[in-house]
Amino acid sequence: MTDLLDVEDLWVRFPTRTGMFDAVRGVSFRLGRERLGIVGESGSGKSMTGRAILRLIRPPGQVDATHIKLDGENLLDKSEVEMRAVRGNRISMVMQDPKFSLNPVMTVGEQLIEAYQLHARGGQAEARKRAIEMLEAVSIRDAERVMRAHPHEMSGGMGQRIMIAMMLIPDPELLIADEPTSALDVSVQGQVLQIMDKLVQDRGMGLIFISHDLNLVAQFCDRVLIMYAGRVVETCDAHKLHEAQHPYTRGLLNSLPRFDAPQKRLEVLKRDPAWAEVPSVGPRA
Ligand SMILES: Nc1ncnc2c1ncn2[C@@H]1O[C@H](COP(=O)(O)OP(=O)(O)OP(=O)(O)O)[C@@H](O)[C@H]1O
Ligand SMILES: [Mg+2]
Repeated sequence: MTDLLDVEDLWVRFPTRTGMFDAVRGVSFRLGRERLGIVGESGSGKSMTGRAILRLIRPPGQVDATHIKLDGENLLDKSEVEMRAVRGNRISMVMQDPKFSLNPVMTVGEQLIEAYQLHARGGQAEARKRAIEMLEAVSIRDAERVMRAHPHEMSGGMGQRIMIAMMLIPDPELLIADEPTSALDVSVQGQVLQIMDKLVQDRGMGLIFISHDLNLVAQFCDRVLIMYAGRVVETCDAHKLHEAQHPYTRGLLNSLPRFDAPQKRLEVLKRDPAWAEVPSVGPRA
């Protein structure tokens, strides 16, 4: 069976005054119809990996890879017009900061309706009905009022849920969710995770879930990639995350507070320059 997504030797580079900066360095992984978590500290290349898959890295940033295959088709061979169809229909991404993704001069309703009509050529009434359903699916009460509001009238957490609603309207094969729940309170976070979970179960959607939160990822995902300095340093089954071997992963786990085993002093993560080295044959997920 072909994988839903197959990424081989992905590099993302940015020219800087002091030379090339490699934000992502030889990342390879495969994804089936499952929930894959990507964790790692700030700046480790999680968002750039997600954006590179959708070919959303703007010049002068550069993307290189042996291939990025969606259902066996190499996305790197597609024209920009073909990529727009992929982004509109087959892969959706919930960006880390939804404020930059919503159009400030259109109402929420207009944007949701537009997202639906781009995907399915349904009439206005059908699109409106579907938009309200999706808002309700992400636990927005008072969906009618929200439809008439502009993005600046929404709180950060509402903005994030509206983005998720918008990304789910086209019924994508793959959803890349970049810190989708970090601005939400715990109860809404749980609801949003349930919605995404249901889509994976019911529709066979693949999910890449990018997060800082090791515990959340361990509970919610099937598999986890741990990134450090632009590389995948370890891949493991989510339920075995606590048995992870790599010293960086162990360090991250040990620097989390635990209510069941309180420590006098939390460990401080000690970094080893060797973790950032690219081996000649990269580990493959
Ligand atoms: N336009 C750019 N020019 C130069 N460097 C960039 C650019 N965009 C991102 N980077 C660098 O690429 C690296 C990876 O960034 P990325 O956004 O993927 O990190 P991240 O793992 O998502 O972090 P966070 O958890 O804070 O969201 C960072 O060091 C960042 O400074
Ligand atoms: Mg990020």
